[in-house]
Order: sequence, then C-alpha cells, then structure tokens
Amino acid sequence: MARHFKTDLEAVMTRDPAATSKFTVFFTYSGFKAIRRHRRANWFYRHGLHGMARFIAQRTKKKTGVEIHPGATIGEGVFIDHGMGVVIGETAEIGNNVTIYQGVTLGGTGKQKGKRHPTVGNNVMIGAGAKVLGAINIGDNSKIGAGSVVLKDVPENSTVVGVPGRAVRVLGEKVDDLDQNKLPDPVLEEFKRLNDRIAVLEDMLNVHACRYSISNDNQFINSDNMTEKKDET
Ligand SMILES: CC(C)(COP(=O)(O)OP(=O)(O)OC[C@H]1O[C@@H](n2cnc3c(N)ncnc32)[C@H](O)[C@@H]1OP(=O)(O)O)[C@@H](O)C(=O)NCCC(=O)NCCS
Repeated sequence: MARHFKTDLEAVMTRDPAATSKFTVFFTYSGFKAIRRHRRANWFYRHGLHGMARFIAQRTKKKTGVEIHPGATIGEGVFIDHGMGVVIGETAEIGNNVTIYQGVTLGGTGKQKGKRHPTVGNNVMIGAGAKVLGAINIGDNSKIGAGSVVLKDVPENSTVVGVPGRAVRVLGEKVDDLDQNKLPDPVLEEFKRLNDRIAVLEDMLNVHACRYSISNDNQFINSDNMTEKKDET
C-alpha cells in the first residue's frame, strides 16, 4: 500500500495542472482518496476478509462518489480526476499511469460471468463519462474519448470515440476509412436492414417514395420530386 503512495501522489501532481501542492492533493482530492482507500480494501479482499473489504469500499463511495469493487486490480500512478460517478467492477484490471475522469464506468455487459470487466493497459486516458464494458482489452497508450461507449478491444496507441466506440486514430495516425466489420455500428446496420425491406415492399406495391437515408451507401432518391432534382445534377 505504502509503496504506491508516492507514485499515486506524483501522478496527480504531474497530470493535473490545477494541483498546486501535495498537501492539497492529499487532503482534498477525492480521486486520490478513493485510490488510497481501495488499496486498503483490496488488501483485505486478497486476504479473504471480504466483509471488511466491502465495508471500506462502501464508505469510500459515500465519501468520494467513486465506487471501486475491492477485488479490482489497480496499478501504480493511477489518477482519478474529479472522482464523482466513477464505477470500477470486480474483475477490472488497470495498468500503470492510467488517467480516469469523472463518470467513467469499467463495467460488465451483464452477459458474461467470471472475468467480465475490462483490462486497461498502461498510460491509458479514459475521458469523462466513457463506458468501457465487457472483458475487453484497452491497449497501452490509448485514449478513450469523453462520452464513448466501448464494447470491443482497442489496439495500442489508438484513440476511440463515439457510441459505439470507433477508432479515429491508430498508432497516432488518423483513420479516415473506418472498417465497419471490425467496429460494427449495430444501429446503422439495423437501419440498413429496415431500408432494404422497405425498398422491397415499395417495389411490390409500385410505390416509390423518397429513399434518401444516411444508412444507404448510395443515397439514392426515388420520389418524383427527388428524381427531378437528381436528374438536374
Ligand atoms: C479523444 C480525445 C482524447 C482526443 O484524442 P486525439 O487522439 O487527440 O484525437 P483528435 O482530437 O485528433 O480527434 C480525432 C477525431 O475525433 C473527434 N473527437 C474527439 N473527441 C471526441 C469525443 N469525445 N466524442 C466524439 N468525437 C470526438 C474529433 O472531433 C476528431 O474528428 P475529425 O477527425 O472528424 O476531426 C479528446 O477529444 C477527449 O475526448 N478527451 C477527454 C478529456 C476529458 O474527459 N476531460 C474531462 C476534463 S473534466
């Protein structure tokens, strides 16, 4: 526990420009307090004293707004900025020098048992409100954008944003052409299926309404008005 103390404190000092003194961090930073208390709870958990571990974790949640299951594995120099609303599940594993902002969930999808929470590599940044769900791996040096929902593995040195999470940078390079097979968008896929079915029905009824849709690869249009417009161009 004590061996992590210095690195945890240094992590806040180096990564939060607003941190003015170690004294302030120690006494007022809820994220720092949550990590310190988690290390204590985790010690009890590893020694089979689950009741005591749970008690500390629940008190920590009350004091800081951060809920970390005592079984979660947390590396050195992890910094939870602001704290409030962070939830970290039992089988989550977090590497070294990770930064987590408020409102982040490292949770399960509700469909898995056993190892069901994410494994986060070293030097990862997880933006405010991001949800990282399931037994997935977040590669070293990656960034998860604020508000993202990540359900698939993230390679090293990548940036993932959006719902569901899409890689916008891999190895520091911008990804222009997203590979939808690797990062599927279930809602868009469903729209595509519905559009295909509507098109078949319209053909059967010989009704040709506007078929413009963001989900169509060729955003074709078929109503009388729209056909004219299309012809003009
Ligand atoms: C994702 C993030 C880390 C930037 O990473 P980056 O690798 O430098 O990526 P870029 O800024 O080059 O952005 C790449 C693309 O993703 C978009 N993007 C960035 N962050 C996004 C987000 N959170 N949600 C959706 N899209 C986002 C950018 O607009 C850009 O799109 P473009 O290629 O069409 O221009 C940053 O935007 C972010 O979300 N940080 C979280 C910080 C935070 O939570 N702060 C809380 C402080 S209280």
